[in-house]
Amino acid sequence: FFGTNQANRLKGKKVLITAGPTREKIDPVRFISNHSSGKMGYALAEEAKRQGADVVLVSGPVQLQAPSGVDIVKVESAEEMYKAVLSHFDGADLVIKTAAVADYRPKITHEHKVKKQAEDMTIELERTKDILYELGQRKKKQLLVGFAAETNNVEAYARKKLFAKNADMIVANNVMADGAGFDTDTNIVTLFKRDGTMTELPLMSKTAVAEKIIEESTVLIKEMNK
Ligand code: CTP
Ligand code: CA
Repeated sequence: FFGTNQANRLKGKKVLITAGPTREKIDPVRFISNHSSGKMGYALAEEAKRQGADVVLVSGPVQLQAPSGVDIVKVESAEEMYKAVLSHFDGADLVIKTAAVADYRPKITHEHKVKKQAEDMTIELERTKDILYELGQRKKKQLLVGFAAETNNVEAYARKKLFAKNADMIVANNVMADGAGFDTDTNIVTLFKRDGTMTELPLMSKTAVAEKIIEESTVLIKEMNK
């Protein structure tokens, strides 16, 4: 049902994938981050490799081994991820932005450990660059796939992100659903495409979800190159 397990669909193609969380430093011992495990992005990198692609995986800090044969670029902050992604974007045929990028970072990163003082304290934050949005502005031949992590109104938010970020497909997941989200081996996702179609997938292993996303992406690449 989920593909024929065929290989080499992406032979000769360059695939750029981001995975994991970012870390935004408060001081040398503290940071703002999230629960992303990187499993979905690493599964995608492995599947893209299995399909014969040249794969670059830009990864935030995670507890995973890079799949063999994949070029890994390790980054910490959203800004580092942005730079690494841009430097590999031009040659890419398919870009999949699985990473859970921090939306905000501390305005100031303290050089030394911040000492406790008053009962209350405030950390001022500023927006990071929206990497997927920036890629959507720059894209030429690249097929651009984004993710959407939602806790409610999944369909409406996912469709909004698809067009706001000029992506070709959005993979949406309700991170509150059982068996879905950040630190699980399974996921429940819905694929949204620009032709308005929506494909709801059942609870599946992240490996099987990755196979499906890569399969759908190769179909879109073929359509684009017609
Ligand atoms: N993304 C990104 N750079 C950011 C934030 C998000 O590239 N600074 C990408 C993610 O990698 C993902 C997509 O944008 O592919 C959607 O991320 P998500 O957090 O769901 O959406 P946001 O646009 O950040 O909106 P919000 O968090 O307010 O829902
Ligand atoms: Ca976000």
